[in-house]
Amino acid sequence: MLKNILFAGFSFLILFLLGIFVYRDATAEWKTYQSTYYQKLAKVVNNPEMANSPLKVEQIWNGQLNRADRCTTCHMGVGNPAFANEPQPYTTHPDLTGYMSKHPFEKVGCTVCHDGDGQAVTVEKTHGVVHHLDRQLKTAPYVQAACSRCHYELYSEDLYWPEAPQLMEGIRLARELGCGACHTINQLGTIATLAPELSGIGSKTELAFYLVHDFSKIESPEHTFRAWEWEHFKDPQKIVPGTMDAADPKDRTPPTIMPNWGLSDEETTALTVFVMSLRDKKVENIPRPFLPRTVGHDQFFQYR
Ligand code: HEC
Ligand code: HEC
Ligand code: HEC
Ligand code: HEC
Repeated sequence: MLKNILFAGFSFLILFLLGIFVYRDATAEWKTYQSTYYQKLAKVVNNPEMANSPLKVEQIWNGQLNRADRCTTCHMGVGNPAFANEPQPYTTHPDLTGYMSKHPFEKVGCTVCHDGDGQAVTVEKTHGVVHHLDRQLKTAPYVQAACSRCHYELYSEDLYWPEAPQLMEGIRLARELGCGACHTINQLGTIATLAPELSGIGSKTELAFYLVHDFSKIESPEHTFRAWEWEHFKDPQKIVPGTMDAADPKDRTPPTIMPNWGLSDEETTALTVFVMSLRDKKVENIPRPFLPRTVGHDQFFQYR
């Protein structure tokens, strides 16, 4: 008798769990975005049939770059010029027919520039702050810190790329303010020992950064690499105040010597993009076929 009751009980439990899975699958967030996309597309191409296109998880797989990006599951319109005036996540990608055409989505995917969790298919997991993530999703303008993964020549003094204005401004400010007096920065050709080397800091994982930085003075609720750098540029002594009030004189350390330049928000953002762009080629390890041939930006556009 007891066996029968238990059996019935477990059967109901399994049915119940199955029901939950079916429900969650049928109401998955991405499905709503995808069906809305198809409804919009049906209007654009004037074919009502399109609205009933089957829904499926889209994926751009690239074994050489070791990526499987599902961003286009929701961002269905990124490659469609007709969606320029639609809201996110349907909008046409900025500069689609310009320099972006040199980085075809079907070849490189999205996370090679935007980082984030390519495999996730919920807004929370792709866009939210996720601590275990190697790299946090980068939106404009911070996504410009990805260009140097492949375009090493970006730091050369006689070069200006209008596609990455904040990065260009950050590089200019770094030269003007003389960061190289204290920091070794290979990209700018500076060698100094007063402060930590910055040459590969942009290739650190989110976790590696988190573990060795003190976030207790950070005001942003986002405890990320970006948030720390931004607030540190605004007021270095607030974020790294030292420990002059320690009871034991041996434990006392002075506040950081990094100057507070009274930077504007725009300048602070530009310098944050700059430090996030400082990459270690060996860590990034982008295979040859995905690296640009070394022609200068202007030469390239001359022949376009
Ligand atoms: C579940 C659907 C979904 C997935 C998957 C998704 N996104 Fe989004 N994305 C959205 C929505 C909705 C918005 C607009 C609302 C917002 O900003 O959160 C958006 C906005 C964005 C923006 C603009 C944000 C801003 O602040 O201007 C970027 C950039 C972006 N997504 C990149 C990505 C990348 C890269 C991936 C893959 C790693 C991805 N998205 C995966 C739904 C999605
Ligand atoms: C070559 C690098 C690169 C690749 C690859 C790339 N993006 Fe972008 N993306 C950018 C840059 C740079 C911007 C900001 C452009 C601007 O503001 O003019 C941007 C902007 C966006 C925006 C607009 C919101 C914002 O942050 O301004 C969305 C959404 C977006 N990308 C999604 C995607 C998705 C989805 C993919 C993959 C299908 C992708 N991107 C692939 C570099 C890239
Ligand atoms: C995965 C590596 C990779 C990343 C990341 C990348 N690019 Fe490129 N880029 C390329 C390749 C490959 C080409 C093609 C060059 C060619 O056709 O010879 C290219 C070409 C270009 C060109 C044409 C001019 C030239 O010098 O070849 C521009 C402009 C450009 N990229 C801008 C950007 C910007 C801005 C970003 C950051 C938002 C970026 N790229 C990120 C690989 C990359
Ligand atoms: C007078 C010397 C000095 C100058 C000039 C200086 N810094 Fe620093 N910087 C330091 C010291 C010391 C530290 C370590 C203590 C701290 O985090 O504040 C530091 C820390 C940093 C960090 C954090 C490093 C890490 O490991 O997280 C970044 C990023 C940084 N500086 C960027 C810059 C940039 C960009 C400039 C130029 C605009 C600059 N610094 C100019 C002394 C300097």
